[in-house]
Amino acid sequence: MDASLARLRERVQSARRIVVLTGAGMSAESGIPTFRDALSGLWARFDPAQLASEPGFRADPKRVWSWYAERRAGVRAAQPNAGHLALGDFARRHPGRLTVVTQNVDDLHQRAGNTDAIRLHGDILQDHWLEPCPRRGGPACEPGRATPGEPPSCGDCGNLLRPGVVWFGEDLPASALQQAESAVAAAQLMLVVGTSGAVWPAAGLAGLARQGGAWVVILNPDATEIDDDAHEWLRGTAATLLPVLFG
Ligand code: APR
Repeated sequence: MDASLARLRERVQSARRIVVLTGAGMSAESGIPTFRDALSGLWARFDPAQLASEPGFRADPKRVWSWYAERRAGVRAAQPNAGHLALGDFARRHPGRLTVVTQNVDDLHQRAGNTDAIRLHGDILQDHWLEPCPRRGGPACEPGRATPGEPPSCGDCGNLLRPGVVWFGEDLPASALQQAESAVAAAQLMLVVGTSGAVWPAAGLAGLARQGGAWVVILNPDATEIDDDAHEWLRGTAATLLPVLFG
């Protein structure tokens, strides 16, 4: 094991509070595509404005719904990789010491044992109504008969179901962001795994950790937009580095 990895493993074993912020690279070795990796990334093949935004959904609900249906099938078929399992196992052995904050909308951290992972960008396996239910105080919207490939709609008012993820232009769930910020403020060590650091406010958490006195380390095969916020950088993948650090 190289010296920097051994030193970091020491830090992991001795830190009282650790935050691990993860991005799409965390699930890459589980076969779920990232967004900005050249060629293989989703945004190299699809237009995020059309597929991951409310205006895009309103313009073509069927197209967006079927794109998410495909991504959901991919998530359901995926398995947590050795990186997810290392974090889940550590949390089980050391209750309360590790907080996972994820930008990912898959459920691999939860399936690996980090059941309380903080979801900054929602959950691709959940849906919610596009409009607030129009009948104040009346019966909540109920999905009527679904047409395959189309978003279910309310039998009475026509409201549409939409994927429970945070789309471009939308705010993050305030409670999730607050939980993440307080976990970061209390951490002695923060690992940033598998994120390009391109999307805020998630990308700001590394700088916040550094300001709060945490030792910040980036684990990524490539450079990221938030490298300057880190004290050190380990070039490698989630499924190879995390089992060494947390095993
Ligand atoms: N292990 C670790 N990191 C990896 C691996 C791997 N096996 N494979 C790729 N990476 C790295 C890439 O080098 C890149 O830095 O993962 C990062 C993935 O970056 P993005 O595709 O930009 O994903 P992410 O940072 O999670 O995007 C943030 O943008 O599109 C929105 O809401 C979406 O949550 C997403 C947000």
